[in-house]
Amino acid sequence: MTPRNRTGAAAGGLAAALISLALLAGGCTEATGGVRGTPGTAGLRDPYFPKLGNGGYDVRHYALTLAYDPGSGRLDGTAEITARATQDLSAFNLDLAGLTVDRASVDGAPAAVNRAGNELTLRPREEIREGAEFRTVVRYAGVPEAITDADGSEEGWLRTADGAVAVGQPAGSMTWFPGNHHPSDKAAYELTLTVPAGLEAISNGVRTSRRTTADGRVTSVWQAPEPMASYLATVAIGRYETEETGGKGNASTTTAPVLTAAERSVADASAALRGEIPEILARQTRRFGPYPFSTAGAIVTADGTLGYALETQTRPVFPAASFDRTTLVHELAHQWFGNSVSPATWRDLWLNEGFATYAEWLYTEEFEHVPARTHFERAFAQDANWAFSPADPPSAENLFDPPVYQRGAMVLHKLRETVGDATFDRILRGWPAKYRHANASTADFTAYAESVAGRDLDALWDVWLYGDGRPESP
Ligand code: ARG
Ligand code: ZN
Repeated sequence: MTPRNRTGAAAGGLAAALISLALLAGGCTEATGGVRGTPGTAGLRDPYFPKLGNGGYDVRHYALTLAYDPGSGRLDGTAEITARATQDLSAFNLDLAGLTVDRASVDGAPAAVNRAGNELTLRPREEIREGAEFRTVVRYAGVPEAITDADGSEEGWLRTADGAVAVGQPAGSMTWFPGNHHPSDKAAYELTLTVPAGLEAISNGVRTSRRTTADGRVTSVWQAPEPMASYLATVAIGRYETEETGGKGNASTTTAPVLTAAERSVADASAALRGEIPEILARQTRRFGPYPFSTAGAIVTADGTLGYALETQTRPVFPAASFDRTTLVHELAHQWFGNSVSPATWRDLWLNEGFATYAEWLYTEEFEHVPARTHFERAFAQDANWAFSPADPPSAENLFDPPVYQRGAMVLHKLRETVGDATFDRILRGWPAKYRHANASTADFTAYAESVAGRDLDALWDVWLYGDGRPESP
C-alpha cells in the first residue's frame, strides 16, 4: 500500500483524454508487435522464503468474507483484493496453501486460474497496465490446514475444540486467504466473519457490526484501516467474552479504545491483566511516541492450540499460559516495532524481536527497579545468545532463536550505553515516527541511529550486531 494520488475533476478529464490517445497509440503499436505485459514474479526473493509474496502489484485493500463451520472445519471464503499494478501485467500470482479455488475474476471479468503448490496464478482476460488499480475476486473453500514451520512450530489456521485461531508469522496466513504474503506489501483489511450462533469471531481492528443472519448464524465485520502485513492478520472463533474500554488520558498518554476477548474458560483468570492494557500502552506511548493504530486489545485463548503469543495487529493473541505481564508488554511493544515499522525482509526480524525484548527490559527497569543493564549481563552470560549474529540467522529454522531476541536487545542496550540515555530516547521515539506504517531494514536502522547520534557507530555494529561470538566483556 502506497499513498494514493488524487486527481481533480478537470485533471481527471484531461488524464482520460490522454489515456484514450495512449490507447489508440497502443492499438497501433500492438498491431506491429508492440510492448506486451509480462507475468508478475512468483516470489519476492526473501532471503529465507524466496517464494513468499509476489511481484508486479501492490495490494491496497483486502476484503475477506469468511464463513466457518467448526464442526466440519470447512471454511468458505471470498477474497476481494484491490491492488495497483507496478508493471504491465499479463498475469500475477497470489500465495495460497491448500483450499480449492472455485473461480476468480479481475475487474469483473472471469480470470483463468492455475495452481502449482502454494502459488495461484491468475491470468486476466485483458492485460493490466502499469499504475492501474484493479480488483480481483477469488472464491475458495475447503478445510484449512496448519503449516509446520522450519522450527517445528505450527501456524496458520489452527482448529480448537469449538472454533479456530489463525496466526501467520511468517507464512501461515496463506492457509486461510489468498494474498501477497510478504511483510513488504502492507494493506488495509476488512473481515466479514460468519460463525454459528453462540460463537464469536474476533479479528483485527474495529468491530463495525454484529448481526444475526436469516439462518441463525452471527456475522461480525472488522475494519483494520491502517497498513497491515498479512502475517499480522488474525481470526479467533469460539466462546469468547469481550470487554471494551474507551480511550482515555491527556494528549501525551491517550490510548486508543481497547477491546479484549478471552475464551470463556480463561476469561476470569485473564481479566485483571487485560485491564492493565490501557496503562501499559500509555507508558509505552511516553517512551515510543504515539500509538500507531486506531484500536488496541488482546485475545486470550484456552491452552492446547497456540504454541506461543503473537503480536497480531491491534489485538495480539496469547495462549492463556503465556498471558503474563512480560509477554503482554512484549506483544504490545510490537505494535510500534514490527507492526507499524515492519521488517523489509525476514532477515530484519531482529528489529521486531530485539525492540520488543528491550521493551520488557525497559518496563522492569521503570517498574520493578531491575536495571536494563542487569538483563543485558544475564543475556551476555548465556551461550545460546551467541550462536549467530541477530542480523543474519543461518537459516529459516533459526529465525526465532535466542540471538534474534536477546542479542537483538543487547545491541540496543549497547547503543544506549554508547550514545547516552537522552540520544537513545530520541532514537526510541524517532525510529517508529520515521518509519511509521512502513518497512525498514537493518541498514535503515544503523543509518538512522547514526544520524541521530551525529556520528559513525561502526565499531558498535561490528562487534555487537554483526560480530561472531561473544566479546571479551559485557
Ligand atoms: N513473534 C512472536 C513473538 O512475539 C513469536 C512467533 C514465534 N513463531 C515461530 N514460528 N516460532 O515473539
Ligand atoms: Zn516478539
